[in-house]
Formats: sequence, structure tokens, C-alpha cells
Amino acid sequence: MSSTKLFAFGFSLLLLLHGVVSIDYRAALTKSLLYFEAQRSGKLPPNQRVQWRGDSGLNDGSDVGVNLVGGYYDAGDNVKFGFPMAFTVTMLAWSVVEFRSQLAAMNELSHALEAIEWGTDYFIKAHPNPNVFYGEVGDGDSDHNCWQRPEDMTTPRTSYKIDQQHPGSDLAGETAAALAAASMAFSISNPRYSTILISHATQDELLWAAVWLHRATGNQSYIDYMVQSGFNGGTRSMFSWDDKYVGAQVLIAKLLLEGKLKESENFGAYKSQAEQYICNCIQKGNSNVHETSAGLLWWQPWNDLQYTTAALFVTTVYADYLSAAKSTLRCQVGSLTPTNLLAFVQSQVNYILGSNPRGMSYMVGFGSNYPKQVHHRGASIVSIKQDSTPVTCKGGYEAWFNKAAPNPNVLDGALVGGPDQGDNYSDSRQNFQQAEPATANTAPMVGVLARLA
Ligand SMILES: *[C@@H]1O[C@H](CO)[C@@H](O)[C@H](O)[C@H]1NC(C)=O
Ligand SMILES: *[C@@H]1O[C@H](CO)[C@@H](O)[C@H](O)[C@H]1NC(C)=O
Repeated sequence: MSSTKLFAFGFSLLLLLHGVVSIDYRAALTKSLLYFEAQRSGKLPPNQRVQWRGDSGLNDGSDVGVNLVGGYYDAGDNVKFGFPMAFTVTMLAWSVVEFRSQLAAMNELSHALEAIEWGTDYFIKAHPNPNVFYGEVGDGDSDHNCWQRPEDMTTPRTSYKIDQQHPGSDLAGETAAALAAASMAFSISNPRYSTILISHATQDELLWAAVWLHRATGNQSYIDYMVQSGFNGGTRSMFSWDDKYVGAQVLIAKLLLEGKLKESENFGAYKSQAEQYICNCIQKGNSNVHETSAGLLWWQPWNDLQYTTAALFVTTVYADYLSAAKSTLRCQVGSLTPTNLLAFVQSQVNYILGSNPRGMSYMVGFGSNYPKQVHHRGASIVSIKQDSTPVTCKGGYEAWFNKAAPNPNVLDGALVGGPDQGDNYSDSRQNFQQAEPATANTAPMVGVLARLA
């Protein structure tokens, strides 16, 4: 056999192996929901499964006389940032709204609802009256200069609010979207809580909020708002906690596919832009998203996987919307069926979970080869349950951050920032661009994994 033929044969065998590799999506789903328990701030409940964590942030809000205990730390630090937290909750709730039966079949529905409620209970506390919302607790600068477990924090826990004097309509809009989406997730199991959530949500009217409020309430006035707002966002290059247009466009496209909106009134543009974004992600558009050498969607060196998982979520739900409407996606390079879209999603998920040149799972705790030095304060320091000696602000760097050893606690289910454009990954705690996980990375994976499992 010539060397070229041998190479071709070896390559096809490799493809075959990649094709047959069986990935346990259900196990990954279970892990993904454990991760949100590890990110909890506040008093942990008796059914807490992640046992290396303890209570923390129990005086949050005391500086302003409001109880702001609870919610989530968003990444490897101990600040409660409202913006990514709200996006995280929206994506978890969207996962339940679309994939409720799949989650229930895998006994994960209650865990998903608990993950949402941990966020929404906090948002309700953070919204003590109609025109005030606390959008952050903790101070980014001082927190980032310390390496401490959340249980030991000695940094200022300053509460920041938005109100009429300090407006933040984008934050209010994201939180309204989260509450509206969550009210749908709870409408069956807890209708009373669902009603409370929607009453907190109806104070802001940005596009993303308007779409979710319409979906949750059926109130036509939100459609009127979208018509009047007149700005559909154009074709976006990414979907993230910082840019939600794609989410709004996709939900408007759903209404068009269902015949509940008409192409007139400019709604057609939202749909074509949603579709253009998806075409670009699946490499069939006119401005395709970059990929790593081995084919993972890739945007930027710092926390890249957040964009990938959000793109995969949108592609997954859109496949189902197209399927329900017996429609296909028309891209510059041909038509794609819902099955084509899901096959693309699956190949990307396989890469993330270990089917890649390094054989590394970028979900912590999944498989045997995963990041061991995750950039995460709590996970990198011995559990307070094992050693309650307080870890000081700077002492944590010496004793734990700089330690060339795996983290003592496995942050199950967390998705790290991910590989670079050459599919490389350096498993080092110092490497925050690649090794820091975030709740906004993992939340979209919950829905995607429920659909694939
Ligand atoms: C629809 O929403 C608008 C804006 O929030 C509100 O003023 C109106 O009362 C709502 N209509 C119904 C029927 O709930
Ligand atoms: C990835 O790692 C390989 C082997 O260490 C190296 O040759 C290559 O240049 C790296 N690629 C990038 C993009 O850093």
C-alpha cells in the first residue's frame, strides 16, 4: 500500500472511531446541574449535594438594609454579578421550557428547577420595590486581588443598585427576561411562584424582555412594543450574556414559523437574521464563524466556550422549531434539515466532552482527562469542612493558587474557557483565559445535553 493510501486508510479509520465514540450525554447532564450547586452563595439547603461547599455571604445586603443573601457566584471569583446571573437563569429556564419532558425522563427536572429557583429567589430579594434592583454584590477589584474560599471572604460586600437616578435598563431587561422565562418553567409545578415571578418581570420592556414577557403572558402589547422599537439588531456575530439579540430573533422566528406573526411589520427581518447567524455558525453562511483547526466554533481566546454553548443551544431549539413547522433552513450554501442542524450540534458537543485532538473533556469531572487546575477560588482551596482555618486574602495565593497540584475539590460539571484556536489547552490555574469556568458557559449546555441524551 502506498503511503498516501495508508494515510487515507488510517484517517478514515480515525473518522470511524470518532463516529462510534459513545459519549454519555446523560452523565454530562447530571454533572452540569451539580455545578450550579457549587456556585451557590448564601445558606445552603439540607438537600445540597455538593458537600465541599459551606454557607457564605450571609450578611450580603446589610450595607443597604436589604436581605441580599443567596444567588450565584458567576465564575472563579466571589462576586455576585447580576448580568451574567440573569442570563444564566434565562438559559436554564429556556432549557426547561423547551426540554421539560427530556429532563423529567432523566430525573433531572427537579434539579433544573432548583437551579433556576436559586437565582429567581435572589432576584425577588434584589427587587424590593418596583423601581429599584440590586445588580451586584461584592466589589470586583478587591475580590480579584484576593484568593479566598467564599466561606472565608474578607473583602467588601458592597451592594450596587439601579434605580431612576442610576438607570440600567439593559440589566433590568435581562432580569425581566429571566423572570418571565422562569415563570414559564414553574407554571406547571408551582403556579403561585410563577405568578410572583411574572409580576416582578413586567417592569421593563426591552426587546429580549419583551419577547419573553410575550411568550410567558401572551399579552399582545409586547408585540406592539417590538413593532415600535423598530430595531432588530442586524445579523449578530455572537450570542452571549452581553448580547441577546440572537435569542430575541430566534423567538420571533418561532412565532413566524407557527403563523402567530406575519412577515409584514418587519418581523421577517428578525427571522432572516436569526437564520443568518445559525448558517454562519454551521459554516454554511456568508460570514462564517471561525473554527479551531479541529473544528470547534471559536470566537476569542478569553472564555471562548460561552459563545460556543450559546450558539449550540440556539441551533438546537431552532432545529426543533423548524421540525414542528416542517420547514428547513436555507443558507447561502444550500438547505439544511433539522437533522443536519442536530448532527452539527452533536459533533460540537462531542468535541467539548473529549472527542478532540487532546482527548480532553472541557467539562470538569467528565471522563478521566479534564482540567485539573481550574481557576476557581473555592475549588482550588481545601474544603472548609476539612480544614476550617480561615484562608486569608493573600495567604490563599501562597498556599493554594501557586500550588502545582490538582485542585482539592472537583468542580463537577463546570465548563472552562476552553481551547485556543490551535486546539491547545494549558491546564494551569494562572491561565484564567482558558481555565476559568462560568455559569453562563454551562447553563446553555443543560438544554443541549437534555436534547441529545
Ligand atoms: C399587557 O401589558 C401591558 C404592559 O405591561 C399592561 O398595561 C396591560 O394591562 C396588559 N394587558 C393584560 C390583558 O394583562
Ligand atoms: C499547539 O501545540 C503544539 C504542540 O505543543 C504546537 O506545535 C502548536 O504551535 C500549538 N498551537 C498553537 C496555536 O499554539
